[in-house]
Amino acid sequence: MARRIIIDTDPGQDDALAMLLAFGASDQLDLLGITCVAGNVPLELTTRNALLICELAGRTDVPVFAGCDRPMVRDLVTAEDVHGKTGLDGPDWDAPTMELQTRHAVDWLVDTLLTADDGEITLCPVGPLTNVAMALVREPAIAPKIAEIVLMGGGYFKGGNITPAAEFNSYVDPHAADVVYRSGIPIVAMPLDVTHEALMPKAWIASIGALGTDVGSKTEAMLSFYERYDLEHYGDAGGPLHDPATIAYLLSPELYSGKHVYVAIETQSELTMGMTVVDWWGAKRNEPNCMWMTEVDAEGFFALIYEALAKLPA
Ligand code: RIB
Ligand code: CA
Repeated sequence: MARRIIIDTDPGQDDALAMLLAFGASDQLDLLGITCVAGNVPLELTTRNALLICELAGRTDVPVFAGCDRPMVRDLVTAEDVHGKTGLDGPDWDAPTMELQTRHAVDWLVDTLLTADDGEITLCPVGPLTNVAMALVREPAIAPKIAEIVLMGGGYFKGGNITPAAEFNSYVDPHAADVVYRSGIPIVAMPLDVTHEALMPKAWIASIGALGTDVGSKTEAMLSFYERYDLEHYGDAGGPLHDPATIAYLLSPELYSGKHVYVAIETQSELTMGMTVVDWWGAKRNEPNCMWMTEVDAEGFFALIYEALAKLPA
């Protein structure tokens, strides 16, 4: 039976690839809905972008919900320098025609989870954790309904990408990340430590464009735009494709390896705000709360995405 999942997202080109990967693996993943959060760009754009990706994949049946338009405590910080003014720069997009759901994403998350069986639904947050944390605070009874939270966020061995200490998603809403990591729900984290181990080969991006479909051409344009920031910033051979790591793990967990560790979030110091403090050696002897991934079979990861995109409609 297909695994029931919810993607919480702030599209973002890499978020878009996470959605497209899930759409291309619809035989294995039953995507119940998409909840949008402010992050890479403001909420009105992350919701617009989520609708555009659903339309691109021919999946206007998947409900899209608008969630929180700012972090729980701090002011919103966005990342137009990485993702462009719209958050989905690269291709030319028409305005979406698909309707946004009217319910607030947090209300829909709570109601959907409350009516599920224990351990029935997997959450895949790939943006700031505001919606997930607000749902947990609003209704703690949802926690046992969640099989696991497979998230993109954090960084330890690779440091941060928005500050020297913090990765963007955990930096934007550190209080939400603190709620999630202290929730007791099983967490699988895809931090910068692992996402920077799979840098997009130029030939791979070109092979997606060569699919000859609208999905292929728009994805090639998104990734070519998106990778320029990382190439300039890191001088690497390619840009890291962060968010699809969560979906790739659900589809092929053997691609990844890491360690079960205790992770805490910095919420006090401005210098290290949002840092994911990983007790890699068990120094504090806290009960581990997270599977922290650090290794990936990059070739397998990119092949998985290519195969999924090739299945999407022309
Ligand atoms: O640090 C990378 C993360 O921040 C990704 O989820 C990207 O989409 C941005 O949200
Ligand atoms: Ca994201």
